Amino acid sequence: MKSWLECISCSARMPLTERHFLCPNCDSLLDVRHDFAHLRADTLRDRFAERLGSADLPYSSGVWRYKELVWPELDDAAIISHPEGNTNLYHSVSLGKCADVSQIWFKHEGENPTGSFKDRGMTGAITHAIAVGARRLACASTGNTASSLASYAAKANLPCIVFVHRAGVSESKQAQMLDYGATVLHIDTDFDTNLALVRQIAESGHAYLANSLNPMRLEGQKTIIFESLQQLNWAVPDWIIVPGGNLGNVSAFGKALTELHSLSMIRDLPRLAVIQAEGASPFYRSYQNDYAPLDVKPAQTLASAIRIGQPINFPKAVRALRATEGVVECVGDDEILDARSLLGRHGIGCEPASAATYAGLLKLRKAGVISAEETVLCVLTGHGLKDTQTAIAYHMAELPEIAGKYLNQPVPVEGDVSAILAALQWQ
Ligand code: F0G
Repeated sequence: MKSWLECISCSARMPLTERHFLCPNCDSLLDVRHDFAHLRADTLRDRFAERLGSADLPYSSGVWRYKELVWPELDDAAIISHPEGNTNLYHSVSLGKCADVSQIWFKHEGENPTGSFKDRGMTGAITHAIAVGARRLACASTGNTASSLASYAAKANLPCIVFVHRAGVSESKQAQMLDYGATVLHIDTDFDTNLALVRQIAESGHAYLANSLNPMRLEGQKTIIFESLQQLNWAVPDWIIVPGGNLGNVSAFGKALTELHSLSMIRDLPRLAVIQAEGASPFYRSYQNDYAPLDVKPAQTLASAIRIGQPINFPKAVRALRATEGVVECVGDDEILDARSLLGRHGIGCEPASAATYAGLLKLRKAGVISAEETVLCVLTGHGLKDTQTAIAYHMAELPEIAGKYLNQPVPVEGDVSAILAALQWQ
């Protein structure tokens, strides 16, 4: 057996082709594990490099290019892929200077087919759903998971049901779910409650769960790290910064890094930094108390993608941070939205949750946790057009309690050349 499910607490093993999201013995989270014994670092590096130019599936996908590390035994014909991944790494001298660090790169996961990193996880999860014979797919979401699931479900020709809080999810994301044909349930409760509801429905066998509790989602998301490091010629930055909500991404990153390290694909482990929004920062509070159990509170932040009060992947995230000497920081909505606008001024668009990374970097640099000599990779998790409502409200100074450092307001003017020149003060 080359891949199996393994409990992170009691180490019980189950076949990957069985449908489990938690350990049947002890209810803990599950990992997907692979037998890497036969793999060699130089062969893998060469193989991944050769596949870069591939026009055909599976290797045209930025997830399945790394198939040996994601799901080696899988039959290529069974893969559900658009393809996804192949996102660019933006190097910015000016944003490096603004943050006072030696080098900065942005891995722009907003370039994925549905505009967020979720597509990398979804190709894994939906391919797995088909392998276990699922007939219906479901998730709870702050918007991006649901958009991604809806798209991959349509590709797989399977029905999907998404649980969302209407007022808590941006209109652009809701438009995507509707376009891709999902059954959209508007439930007037927060993400955490919606996740509890959909879990009950999935546990009773009515639908396959596509949230990040599903360990195959995280296998796909590991490839954000694989692809970034391949783009950096396998030289690791000192820091990798990621926003934290349900803590799936940081868990996947920790797993990817420890796997690469144990395969000798990388010599050093970068440090992971997770950034939460102040109003949705249970992981930050736990980190401050030596990873005490989560103190669960209702979440509130304008970065709606990470408005999560009870992160389901908490134990895996702790493992990831312990393995990488990681840190957790939190930032206010004003810092997040200013950072988003500052990235925009440098030509890089992203949604608010993604900009938490750069806001967190500024804070960690100021505190001296990150030094001026260090190199940083920020993961931008979602596209700039994912939440245009918040962007416009920011620029129009319509958000209570947000002063806004980088407002840019449209200039109302008559359709007349002299009026335009006067408005521009070009006389
Ligand atoms: N950034 C974006 C743009 C997201 O959509 C999410 C999560 C996160 C960061 C946080 O990632 O949960 O792995 O820590 N969005 C989920 C959703 C919850 O439903 O779309 P995480």
